[in-house]
Amino acid sequence: MPEIIARKFEWQPDYAVGIERIDQDHRWLFSAVDRLYQAMLAGQGKKQLEWLLSGLIEYSQRHFSFEEQLMRQTTYPGSAAHVRQHEEFRRHIGDLYANFQRGNATITIEALQFLTGWLARHTCDCDRAMAEHLKTSSR
Ligand SMILES: [Fe+2]
Ligand SMILES: [Fe+2]
Repeated sequence: MPEIIARKFEWQPDYAVGIERIDQDHRWLFSAVDRLYQAMLAGQGKKQLEWLLSGLIEYSQRHFSFEEQLMRQTTYPGSAAHVRQHEEFRRHIGDLYANFQRGNATITIEALQFLTGWLARHTCDCDRAMAEHLKTSSR
């Protein structure tokens, strides 16, 4: 009997930063990586993987822009370092997409692990610090 594939890249409750709109985005980002993982395991074709990957890119761009806007509005002192981290993710996922487009139509588990590892660290460190600032700022 085929084993049921565990959800490998799920958002965890201890990633919560306590601002619902941001936590909701983070849950979506983790589940998008998980959907890519499930699609890879199921041997889905290039078109489907490409669709999922571009969805993840688009959503992460929107999410980062949203956080960056909040940081600007509240003149968050940690903004520059935070934005640099977003840039790192943008670059990384952009390279991943370019590689994929160049005909290497696979996404490795290691690449997905990198994405979720990055997301988990960034969420628990940078996003949490930003959220604490946002909670005390009048917007
Ligand atoms: Fe962030
Ligand atoms: Fe975030």
